[in-house]
This record gives sequence, structure tokens and C-alpha cells, in this order.
Amino acid sequence: MIPDRPTALPTWPPLLAHGREVRRLHLRELGARDPDRFERLSLQACGLLLDFSKQKVTARSIELLLAHARALDLPARIAALFGGEPVNTSERRAALHGALRYRGDAPFPSRAWNVMPEVRAVLGRMRAFCDALGGGEVRGYDGRPLRNVVNIGIGGSDLGPAMAGEALETRWRPGMSAHFVSNLDSTDIARALARSDPGETLFIVVSKTFGTRETLVNAASAREWLVRAAGDERAVERHFVAVSARPERARAFGVAPRRVFEIWDWVGGRYSLWSAAGLSVAALVGMDDFEALLAGAGEMDEHFRGAPLAANAPLLLALVGVWNRNVLGAATHAVLPYDYALARLPAYLQQLEMESNGKRVDHAGRLLDLASCPVVWGGPGSDAQHAFFQKLHQGGALVPCDFLVAALGQRELGDHQREVIANALAQSRAMMVGRRAEELDAGAGGTGDPEGAAHRVVPGDQPSTTIVYERLTPRVLGALIALYEHKVFVQGMCWGVNSFDQWGVELGKQLAGEILARMEGESRPDAIDPSTEGLLRCLLTLRGRAKET
Ligand code: F6P
Repeated sequence: MIPDRPTALPTWPPLLAHGREVRRLHLRELGARDPDRFERLSLQACGLLLDFSKQKVTARSIELLLAHARALDLPARIAALFGGEPVNTSERRAALHGALRYRGDAPFPSRAWNVMPEVRAVLGRMRAFCDALGGGEVRGYDGRPLRNVVNIGIGGSDLGPAMAGEALETRWRPGMSAHFVSNLDSTDIARALARSDPGETLFIVVSKTFGTRETLVNAASAREWLVRAAGDERAVERHFVAVSARPERARAFGVAPRRVFEIWDWVGGRYSLWSAAGLSVAALVGMDDFEALLAGAGEMDEHFRGAPLAANAPLLLALVGVWNRNVLGAATHAVLPYDYALARLPAYLQQLEMESNGKRVDHAGRLLDLASCPVVWGGPGSDAQHAFFQKLHQGGALVPCDFLVAALGQRELGDHQREVIANALAQSRAMMVGRRAEELDAGAGGTGDPEGAAHRVVPGDQPSTTIVYERLTPRVLGALIALYEHKVFVQGMCWGVNSFDQWGVELGKQLAGEILARMEGESRPDAIDPSTEGLLRCLLTLRGRAKET
């Protein structure tokens, strides 16, 4: 049962009132007032430490947020998610990604509807395939083992495999290489093909619907390239694998039935990494590591379902985000991995958070009366320091940040990791405390140089969460991704939106079809608006001219 508007709960107004008080306090002051802040505002779960002591919250803020979570009946909502209830209300579907990493023996989600036999059957098939691949038994048209993986998909069928695949690169089996192709622009697939040897290449086409134009266009180009090189149409059966909830479409494309891995409609695209949609990751690192990734996520699921609210990592991460968005008014949120293996995490979280919670109506279709998901952006720390951090330090906008820091690098090389740690902590500290005019050195905008000082003062008071872990193993990565997935679920509840649909992306797909029809001369000029028609005319003229020369 979904309660009425979250803002109508009696726990909401006190939060806003308290926020008005806390807003006035500088983070530096909050730190000075409470020397035990780190102990009080940090917690550990599943190999991760989450530190909220640099957030603009007090112990009272957390109390009020937890009271709101209780009023929203969050424990019951979490139980509904894992119990297989149709939490995706607009499509009347469950969101059962938890089943994909469930390690126990009990039926899941229930005795009446147990998806575990099919989940485990596909995992078994994935293992058999990945073992054969790793053992050099999966061979191409000229008899050589396949060892170059090209993942073709988009959105959740690309971002998860690409992010996790790259994050675990140090664990790839010897001799393996990979490319992740998603973009419709031919540059993406052409670049991957130019770096590939057709005789050694395995294409993994991932598409839940097997109807996504971008993926089908890329897969068709890949197939053409392969058949041209092999000189034989039958090469497709050897070199292509598909992952889909529409296996008949994959077979119609030419994929051998034994090479089609099933996913189900209860797995959302952006939650599908844990299914066969993660096959390219499993192919690269081997099934043991892939199962360790699932185990880490499963551990986070257990934590999320069982930990008391006050010690529940995803829940607190979510509530602090709601605080920043709705109480302090932050419009954006930056993700800053100081772990280059996670360079693609910001892009992954952009889909996870914004496709899930970038909504303006609630479950009942009513306009929201509070802001939902902030704009999520970011980039790997240290590079980002020399790019957009200036804006974070002195740009004047409130931008809460997540810092992610490993104690040990993926490759312990020289002094790199010590410097990474120093820089990550320096940046979050700089954001918190800033630098006042009286702290400037003389001659560098210090006393007697007010103009210089104005340029050099750093206001600070920029809130951040820091997530620390020992090293990015598959298990830690699994826990980290599941942490964010559950954060998104809780925030969806706090905003009253359905986190599991994405109707907003449909319109563009439909209009692209209409414009293609117009380009083919199948519709009249007034079929589209004058602005778009003008641009189309201009592009077609340029294309025509370029083709003539
Ligand atoms: O267009 C958005 C979307 O539906 C995503 O939610 C999904 O991850 C992506 O497209 C790819 O869809 P599919 O796996 O069906 O190709």
C-alpha cells in the first residue's frame, strides 16, 4: 500500500523547519561543535564505510529523517520490493533484481512464485559458456579461440557491463580484450571493429526487448563485417551470443538458440547487470568473479532488508540525498570516484538515478509537490580536480558530492595510491572548511590586499559523503552498486514516484521513426513542425552536396 503524498506526512514540516536552522550553520562550525562527528555520522556495511560527517546535518537532522522514513512505512516497502509485489505500478510488474543475487535456499520472492530455478538455470548456462570460452573451446570460423569480446547494447544493456567490466579489468583472464559499443553513430562500432580481429571476436548483443534501434543497427553492422571477413553466413552462429527477454527475436537475427541467454520482464534494464546482461563481464573475469560480484550485491540486499533504519547504509545515503535536494535545495549531485577503475560509475549512476527517479508525477499520476531526482553528474577524481572542481569550490552553487576512495589501488604502483588518498581527502576537506580571508598568506591575497583576497577566498560549506573501501574487488563492487540501487529505491519512495518505469524516453523513439519516414519521403512536410522541418532540409541538402563531390 503506497501512502498518500510524502509531504502530507506529519514528519515533513518539522524537517523543513529544522532545515532552516541548519542552513545557517557553516559545515566548519558543525565540525567544531561536535568532535565526535565522524564516529556519530559514519557507518560500515558489506566492506564499505560511509562517512556522512561532512554532510550539512546534525544528529537531530538524522533523527527527523529517520522519523520520516518510518512514517513512509519504509520497512514495509522494502519487504514489498523483495516480496515480488508489483512495485512498478505503471507497468504492473515486480522489480526482482534481488533474486539475481540471492544466495539462499528459500523460494524467492515467495513459495507461490519462485523465480530461483530459472535464475539458477541461466547462471549455470553462463558458467558453462564462460568456462568453455576461458578454456579456449569457443572457436571462431577459422578455428581460433574467441578472446575479444564486443558487447553491443545501450542504456542498462551497456552501462552496467561497461562500468563493471572496466572496473574489474585487472582481473580479466589473460589474453582477453573487450569493447563496449552503444552509440548509434558509426564511429563507435567502426572503432571497435578496427581494433578487432574477426576470427577471434565474440559479439554479445544485449537487449531486453531486442527491439532497440541503436543496438539492432550496431549488431547488423557487426554481422555484416563478420560475414564479409569469414565469407560465410554461418559464422554468425559461432561469433554471436544474445541476451534478451525476447529470445525469438534474437534467433530471428541469426543467433544460435543455444547461444541465447534469457532475461525476464521483471528485470529492469538499469538493474540488469546481475542477469545474463552481465555476460560480457563474466566472460572477461570468469564466472567465479561474476558470482563474487553477485554475492557482494546479495550481502547488501541482506543488510538493506535487515539492518535497523539508523544503521542502514542505503537508507541513510538516500535520506541524506533527500535532505540535500528538498531541504537544502541542491539541484545537482556530483559523483567523484577517486578510483580510476570506477571512471564509468558517474555515467552508470546517471541512468540508474535519473531514469529511475527523474519523474514529475507520483504513482497516482498527480503532479509532485516536491522536487525529485537532482541532475547527477561527475567524473573521476584527480582529472576532475583540474576540470570542474573550480566550480565546486568557488562557483557559488550547492553541489553535494560523493567521494569514493580505495585504501589500496587496483595496481599498487609506486606512490600513486598515497597521493590519490591525500588528494581525495584534501578535496572533501577543502569543500567542507574552505579558506577564509584571514587564513590567506600575506602576499597571496592576505592582509592588506582585499582585492586579491576576494579571488582566493574559498567559501567551503559544500557537503559531501565519502565512501571508503579496502580495494575494489568484485564483492566490493557488487555491494557498492547495490548500495546505490537501494538508495534510488528509498528516494523514489520519499518522492512518491515509480522508480521502475521510464515513459519519458518513449516519445523521442517515436519521433525518430516519424522523421526517418519523412526522410524517406513517406510523409508530407507539414507532418513535422517548421523548425524541425527546416533543420532536416538543411541536413539533407548538406548530405546531398557532400555526396555529389
Ligand atoms: O530507452 C531506455 C531503455 O529502455 C533503458 O531503460 C534500457 O536500459 C535501454 O533502453 C535498452 O533497452 P534494451 O535492453 O531493451 O535494448
